[in-house]
Amino acid sequence: MTVLHPRAYTVTVIWTLGLLFLGSIVHATESSLACPDWPTCFGTMVPEMTGGVFWEHLHRLVAGGLVLMFALGTWLAKRETSERPWIFRASLAGVGLLLVQSVFGGLTVIYQLPDLVSTTHLSLAFIFLSLATVLAVATNGTTGPGGPPKIEGFGHGNGRKLTIYAGVAAGSVFIQSVLGALVRHTDGGMSCPDVPLCLGQVVPPLVNVQITSHFLHRLMAIVATVAVLWLYAWAVRAEVPTRVKRWAMAAVGLVLVQVALGVISVLTFLAIPPVSIHTLVAAALLSLLVALATLGSRASVYIQEPELLPAR
Ligand code: HEM
Ligand code: HEM
Repeated sequence: MTVLHPRAYTVTVIWTLGLLFLGSIVHATESSLACPDWPTCFGTMVPEMTGGVFWEHLHRLVAGGLVLMFALGTWLAKRETSERPWIFRASLAGVGLLLVQSVFGGLTVIYQLPDLVSTTHLSLAFIFLSLATVLAVATNGTTGPGGPPKIEGFGHGNGRKLTIYAGVAAGSVFIQSVLGALVRHTDGGMSCPDVPLCLGQVVPPLVNVQITSHFLHRLMAIVATVAVLWLYAWAVRAEVPTRVKRWAMAAVGLVLVQVALGVISVLTFLAIPPVSIHTLVAAALLSLLVALATLGSRASVYIQEPELLPAR
């Protein structure tokens, strides 16, 4: 039996990363209101693709493609995962999330970019990416209705530990990203124009939402970086599969690149390439950490409930 839903979920993750990147470019190129209406653009689905309309309408088209791709994955999951009903249910929740997300995208346009709506649009995008990642990793390797084979190479209890450490790191990257979106949408990107100090001080005067959120974003960067380094320091010494060690090392690479991109964004007065790549790397880092947490839970579920082991 050919099982297709894991592939649909993997394509969804890659597609979502591309869509997030495009969304960030829409904002950075000030194309957000290039199409004044929604769901059409100047009353048509095929506007002239020039200037800001190119980025904004392309973002909408790629979003439409994502909804179709994920709906296909959900339909396949319904047919192929009868013994693991949670996959279909989670997938259905993802379809709902995508529809809400598309409405939020429309609201950003109709209400002309209120800060909270734009910040929510990024937060929901990151939540959807995390859900798609869980589904992709939880189903990866499935060859029949019983689910994927057990992952070998985890020492006793290490699956659970991996889920906790990677989950904490993923949680801190998510909070950091929501803070980043708040900085961006309240126009606080240059409210601390110097690095590493902010307005020449370790703790700047927290007199408005821009300076406060920017300062918190820098503080939280330290927390997120430490959480990822902690995960790596544990994984490199623990009895875990080699791919866990490699992915943890990749997470360290991504978090360091991300901090560098944040600094470059400030030093270049929010130039389009660094700020757009800053969104993409945040999303890639979150997805990687969620993938690690899911791998860990796959190992620990099998250890605790051996009857769930599929016939190999
Ligand atoms: C047809 C539906 C959609 C519309 C009309 C839409 C519209 C927009 C607009 C106007 C922006 C710029 C917002 C701003 O400058 O504040 C934007 C940004 C963005 N969009 Fe969408 N969007 C849609 C669907 C989606 C979906 C399905 C996702 C992801 C799952 C997504 C992810 C993003 C992201 C990550 C950004 C960047 C937000 C930021 O920079 O903080 N969008 N979108
Ligand atoms: C783990 C580290 C970090 C993560 C995960 C992260 C993530 C993010 C995210 C997701 C955004 C919102 C992008 C969007 O709305 O599209 C953002 C915005 C921003 N980040 Fe970070 N960030 C990190 C570290 C830093 C550091 C160290 C700095 C500066 C020293 C920084 C400076 C900024 C600035 C200035 C913005 C606003 C960009 C704009 O206004 O266009 N970030 N960050």
